Amino acid sequence: MTRSAIALCGFMGAGKTTVGRALAARLGWDFEDLDARFTALHGPIPDFFARRGEAAFREAEQAVLRSVPTERTVLALGGGTTVDPAGRLWVERHFETVFLDVPLDEAGRRVGTGEGRPVWAQAAERYAVRLPVYTSARTRVDATAAVEAVVDAILAGRGPRIERVALGDRAYDVVIAETFEGLRDRVPGEARIVTDDTVGPLWLPALHAHVAGPVCTFEAGEASKTLDTWRRVVDALVAVGTRRDTPVVALGGGVVGDLAGFAAATVNRGVPFVQVPTTTLAMVDSSVGGKTGVNHLRGKNLVGAFHQPSAVWMSLETLDTLDPRERRAGLAEVLKTGAVLDPVLLDVLEAGAPLLAAGDRAATEHVVALAVRDKARVVAEDERETGLRRVLNAGHTVGHALERAATYGVLLHGEAVAIGLVAEARWAASQGLCEPAFPARLARIAAALGLPAEPPPGLDSETIRDAMAVDKKAARDILYLPVPVAAGRHAIVPLPLEKLDQLLPEPR
Ligand SMILES: NC(=O)c1ccc[n+]([C@@H]2O[C@H](COP(=O)([O-])OP(=O)(O)OC[C@H]3O[C@@H](n4cnc5c(N)ncnc54)[C@H](O)[C@@H]3O)[C@@H](O)[C@H]2O)c1
Ligand SMILES: [Zn+2]
Repeated sequence: MTRSAIALCGFMGAGKTTVGRALAARLGWDFEDLDARFTALHGPIPDFFARRGEAAFREAEQAVLRSVPTERTVLALGGGTTVDPAGRLWVERHFETVFLDVPLDEAGRRVGTGEGRPVWAQAAERYAVRLPVYTSARTRVDATAAVEAVVDAILAGRGPRIERVALGDRAYDVVIAETFEGLRDRVPGEARIVTDDTVGPLWLPALHAHVAGPVCTFEAGEASKTLDTWRRVVDALVAVGTRRDTPVVALGGGVVGDLAGFAAATVNRGVPFVQVPTTTLAMVDSSVGGKTGVNHLRGKNLVGAFHQPSAVWMSLETLDTLDPRERRAGLAEVLKTGAVLDPVLLDVLEAGAPLLAAGDRAATEHVVALAVRDKARVVAEDERETGLRRVLNAGHTVGHALERAATYGVLLHGEAVAIGLVAEARWAASQGLCEPAFPARLARIAAALGLPAEPPPGLDSETIRDAMAVDKKAARDILYLPVPVAAGRHAIVPLPLEKLDQLLPEPR
């Protein structure tokens, strides 16, 4: 999102004040220093600390933070300001955040670590706690360079947020923008656009202002994710003439992305492919990672191919027309990612749940970006899902069974995943694998996000048990179940199939 304020975070000695002043001068904006603002109000920080303790200091600091102007301002944050998730989200919503990255030993040299610098005590521990928080900032800049060079790097990094999927010669950018402005640079020349009959009428006019080319539309919904529709899309692509270098643009949710992606993987043995996801689920999950395909009578996603997109473009504006229930359901995949991989993301979900449930765009941008970053990292490490990528199936063993057991439309995929995640975490806790209090925390966050944490009434356990049996047939004798064991940490548990029923949540 475009914001007209920049906040600098980083450890003491990173140069937040020096760089902040120089940056403000360059932009003609005001400079604000949070520590100085605090001191003006409450007196010197070390005195306040000594008198009232760290907890009181953090509380007062958060109040000072929220009094900072958020227009045409460069703000130097305190070293620990963004450790508080609510404060961090507030900063992310109002500022472009930049992490000034300086290695700990260099920071020590800069501030001086000798006698009379008691502030350096426990620096290593503090740094270890804060680093994952700092790196959740929008951009990270090497701050060991000269001040003006650091300012140049910050200015060069402005514009929409970009996360990169590092897959060697198939690496690509995920652009998290607010509109389609700039998409032309990613899709120059003619494209082939694939969409569904709900998204097309809503967003094709806006897309066409930036991307030219004929459109192939199919009926919205999971029921369209078939070999029949794939064939219709391929026929359409062939009919209008699609060369080896003509990109296919998928405009829509996960169904459009999976189908158009599979068509792009197969036409001419593969043509370039650009994902333009328009649902929360597609943004945080299906558009990144290159899994494409369709359903088969014998199973979901049974026919498909790995075909990485050449770019992913998210226009957050498109979420405005999405049904709020669908919008929230996609957040379940973010909750899953936070639960098993990313404690910093989980904290933000917890602190920002009401804003996220209400669709606040800036808060959504932040959690989408963090979820994309996590998914990008997982895909780069394990593209074909032989190891780490399996962790993203957390919540899905029970979730899929619930989806199958529930009458169509009663549970959206994300809702089933939220219930499944809580159920699987409870099972892991019952086995002594997961911290006892963690499942309840997940259930609380799910509820605050407007997601169910328990199966809907009327879904009887017999039906769920039967649905689970379908998975039993699909697997061999052992299922490798990813479960959360604590915030942002997971284990992959080999589970003999006869024990699968233990996972089932009890309907209320
Ligand atoms: N490839 C992967 O890695 C991966 C990962 C997760 C899920 N998936 C697949 O994704 C699919 C689910 O994706 P989904 O939840 O996005 O479903 P979807 O594509 O069916 O979209 C949900 C509904 O919202 C409508 N819609 C989409 N964007 C809209 C917008 N901006 N405004 C108004 N309406 C809009 C659609 O027309 C549809 O009716 C499943 O088929 C699942 O298997 C794939
Ligand atoms: Zn899912």
